[in-house]
Amino acid sequence: MPRQPPPKLLVTSALIYANGPIHLGHLVEVVQADVFVRAQRLMGRDVLYVCADDTHGTPIELSAQKQGVSPEALIAGIYVEHVRDFADFDISFDDYGSTHTPENRHFAELIYQRLRDAGHIDKRAIELSYCETDKRFLPDRFVRGICPRCGAPDQYGDVCEVCKSTYAPTELKDPRCAICGATPVRRLSENYFVKLKDFEALLAQIANGMSAPQLDPQIQRFLQGWVTQGLQDWCISRDAPYFGFEIPGAPGKYFYVWLDAPIGYISNTERYLKKRQQTAAAYWAEDADSEIWHFIGKDIIYFHALFWPAMLRGAGLKVPSRIVVHGMLSVKGEKISKSRGRPLTARAYLDLGLQAEQLRYYFAANLTPQPNDIDLNVEDFRNRVNAELVNNLANFCHRTLSLIRSKFGGKLVAPSSDAVASATWASMAGRFERVIEGYRTLEFREAVAQLIEIGNAGNLFLQQRKPWELGAAAHGDLSLCANGALAIALLLSPIVPKMAAAVLSQLGRKEATFADLSGGPWLSSGTLADGPPSLMPRIEAAQARGLLPTEAAAALAVATPKTQPEVAIKVPLAPIPYEQFAAIDLRCGLIVNAEAVEGASKLLKLTVDLGEGHPRTIASGIAESFALTALVGKRVVVVANLEPRKIRGIESRGMLLASGEGAAIRLVGLPDDVTVGSQVK
Ligand code: MSP
Ligand code: ZN
Repeated sequence: MPRQPPPKLLVTSALIYANGPIHLGHLVEVVQADVFVRAQRLMGRDVLYVCADDTHGTPIELSAQKQGVSPEALIAGIYVEHVRDFADFDISFDDYGSTHTPENRHFAELIYQRLRDAGHIDKRAIELSYCETDKRFLPDRFVRGICPRCGAPDQYGDVCEVCKSTYAPTELKDPRCAICGATPVRRLSENYFVKLKDFEALLAQIANGMSAPQLDPQIQRFLQGWVTQGLQDWCISRDAPYFGFEIPGAPGKYFYVWLDAPIGYISNTERYLKKRQQTAAAYWAEDADSEIWHFIGKDIIYFHALFWPAMLRGAGLKVPSRIVVHGMLSVKGEKISKSRGRPLTARAYLDLGLQAEQLRYYFAANLTPQPNDIDLNVEDFRNRVNAELVNNLANFCHRTLSLIRSKFGGKLVAPSSDAVASATWASMAGRFERVIEGYRTLEFREAVAQLIEIGNAGNLFLQQRKPWELGAAAHGDLSLCANGALAIALLLSPIVPKMAAAVLSQLGRKEATFADLSGGPWLSSGTLADGPPSLMPRIEAAQARGLLPTEAAAALAVATPKTQPEVAIKVPLAPIPYEQFAAIDLRCGLIVNAEAVEGASKLLKLTVDLGEGHPRTIASGIAESFALTALVGKRVVVVANLEPRKIRGIESRGMLLASGEGAAIRLVGLPDDVTVGSQVK
């Protein structure tokens, strides 16, 4: 009986906010999805990979305003950058679209109307924070104040980053508008809600693994918690001014960005299929013969596993088959944050002369189906890429092909088949299916481990047989290795497509698929085509260091790295009255310049802005710990009311807080969004 072909597959990765550049965190996700998609294509599956920019909402509107351009112009510029960055990382989208399209408006309205007609929408007035200066309602993230639970200053309106508790923006003490600093008022506003409770049965089933979408057990447990806590109505409207789609029949009310964002998955499928005289129904109709897989990060599970299936079910559309959730990427333990600090961008990575495929390899080597966080440890990145991808896998292919070219005029012959050769082949071929299985089950770490073993077997064979000494079996041995190179390249191609293509085209097998891996060895005659001089460069130490946050890079570059000396800590010292502490005026200072001081090797002359109009000069004994360039732009804590003092002829006005000694001094820093000159208490 002929086997039924598997249903056609739609893969998506989360839509990227159109208010900033692609960073390495985004790349984890698209690399995971892209490796999966490429492997599925090589398994012969009909796959469509769709993604887009997520263009609506207050942050984008305000950042356009700040830059003095229209939101449309802002998102158009970002779109071009995103597309270029993803192309440079070889992400094989079939379509990369946008949520600001007529199709997306159409589907947003359609789904909303279907939900409303089925009675799943509720309308009522709620009290929200409103800024009378800016004349707008303030989203949670745009109200800042003192945490009602722990008293930490300057926290967002929804969650305290210090004690992690969540609350409503109206609970914040001393709330301020994050745009203008005014105290917001409370104001009633009519809003629209999806009654999530209507979908409790479906969501409980998903949480228990009894209904699609399939989820990792860890994610199921999150979901179980949310369902048992009770499903709250979900507010899907926002008041003007808002960059988005106005709600039909509700002037001045707009769809919340998170309503129309996932609908972008549908509308961009539609845009792609339209050009092929089809519609999105081919994938999204409730009874479509399709599978839909979403790849997302941990931070947006709520939207994809709760709201989205509810919306789709309520609108009579297909719920996704699977949601693959990956963990968050950090660099040396530092979070690549969306809202704070400067993320490591895809462009900055490439500007270091690093290869996109080196990063693709490292991510794949660390990815599993579980949502575990990944730390990009730059030394580990360099070591693994150099040892595994370059020295083992690329080098095996390269050495084999260049020896065939230099010693045998590029000609292939029947591969050796003596006992050692056959055993080598068997140990390689025995792993092909395991690599493919790794791709199928998202166990990329395992697929890479198996590939490394295949490479090890090949390299061991070369070492044992030394074909460069041109013994009787040399030509057959190298031909066997050429077959090994074919398998390695084909199996590696989802991860490093360019490097793989360079090997496969030399072997005349550019169009090969995983089905071609049965049987083998396959090559026993023919001539190699030309190839590039090198398949994959090594990562240099300086390049890897360039990935570190500037401070860490500067600290590493210090000639004699000293660790913090262990000191016997005696706490507390003599107690002081509170007034004495309160008399110290600590401020957020921004270092705007740093100069060496002649004849004083430990001293730096810093120019520090305290928001007073004139920056101050501060002499600081930190020269052994910092490169000058690493200091500029940093926010530090300054003792602002210290008596001025002359140090080496410099009139120093203030002092920086720091810890450590010699080359191991670390400054007490403040996040980038702290206002310069504000008091530190
Ligand atoms: N626009 C929303 C998604 C809408 S989907 C209908 C969004 N955008 S995002 O640009 O902030 O993030 C896009 C994807 O990148 C998300 O899945 C997010 O989890 C992922 N990542 C963002 N930073 C990340 C890391 N540091 N590490 C790993 N993935 C990260 O969320
Ligand atoms: Zn305001």
